[in-house]
Amino acid sequence: MSDKIRVGVLCGGVSCEHEVSLVSAQNVMRALDPEKYETSLIFIDKKGHWHQVAPRDLLDHDSHKLLSGTCELTAPVSTKAPVTLPEGRLDVIFPVLHGPYGEDGTVQGFLKLARVPFVGADVCGSAVGMDKDIQKRILRDAGIPVVKFRTLYSAHRDKLDPEMLIEQLGLPLFVKPANLGSSVAISKAKTKDELIAAIDNAFEYDKKVLVEEFCPGREIECAVLGNESPIASVPGEVITSYEFYDFEAKYLDDKLKLEIPASLTASQVRQVQELSICAFELLSCAGMARVDFFLRDDGKLLVNEINTIPGFTNSSMYPKLWDASGIGYVELVDRLIELALERHNRESLLKTSN
Ligand SMILES: Nc1ncnc2c1ncn2[C@@H]1O[C@H](COP(=O)(O)OP(=O)(O)O)[C@@H](O)[C@H]1O
Ligand SMILES: [Mg+2]
Repeated sequence: MSDKIRVGVLCGGVSCEHEVSLVSAQNVMRALDPEKYETSLIFIDKKGHWHQVAPRDLLDHDSHKLLSGTCELTAPVSTKAPVTLPEGRLDVIFPVLHGPYGEDGTVQGFLKLARVPFVGADVCGSAVGMDKDIQKRILRDAGIPVVKFRTLYSAHRDKLDPEMLIEQLGLPLFVKPANLGSSVAISKAKTKDELIAAIDNAFEYDKKVLVEEFCPGREIECAVLGNESPIASVPGEVITSYEFYDFEAKYLDDKLKLEIPASLTASQVRQVQELSICAFELLSCAGMARVDFFLRDDGKLLVNEINTIPGFTNSSMYPKLWDASGIGYVELVDRLIELALERHNRESLLKTSN
């Protein structure tokens, strides 16, 4: 039997970020050293069915076409049986899934039950990392600066008071579903009518919606890597000519500029790195996360959000930040797999009863 580490890369998924996941997975697959790893590819189609597919089925696709939806990965007709993940068949899973049903703790819970080690945050860290409302509350309670926000629940929509929101948070306002990513259903509302329309739209995607004060300034991002002693990368900056860093700007805009390292003072860099590690620990992350900030025009730094499965596409910040910090793609993927195995081994020593 080969002594290679058997890695299962999980990609696709039912979220709006299905295509982004496929392109991220292409890059992760390419970075897995074939001398060291035996790689299987598990594709989750848009209906949520799992299929084992040949790595070539994904690698042969053009990443731009995948992202723009002009081509898609479909499961081979021959895949009739669902994928099974028996204990011992795969040494570790790399979930390269973004958004709900992938990054939110659901897949992580399933893998945990199956006792398979996996890359990235555990159930709790994933769930908290996905929920912009819960994560902001935890950060705010710990004294980490976040934007002022209000949480709306679909069950109480009849009590919605847009005038009060505008009075408390000003205009423009950002409206977003609590549990999505890639800027899906996020709007900037400049008037009361736009606010009402933005809230209605966001409620189509989630039963919980955040309304946030507008935070003018720069967007700084920092990558974190590790389990119990995480390290932070050099910070980077996202520069976009768009109204905000929306889906198109993130994945389809060639003019989007990532400045790595970001032009910051030494003390700002230290502050970004310290806050990133602090957020990573507070939010129960493991393995990897990208922490996103607003650097307000008055110099104040606020945490915008944490991403527990950051993008791995060609324009993605996470691998680029590590590259600029001296950890190339291949080493990064190596370390992430090591961290997954290390955490699994450590947790398997914990008592589960008296
Ligand atoms: N409160 C805010 N003030 C200013 N810009 C914001 C605010 N919230 C979001 N944005 C803009 O929208 C983008 C996406 O919002 P974000 O909360 O990061 O959601 P996602 O999980 O989809 O990335 C941000 O990168 C930023 O450009
Ligand atoms: Mg974001």
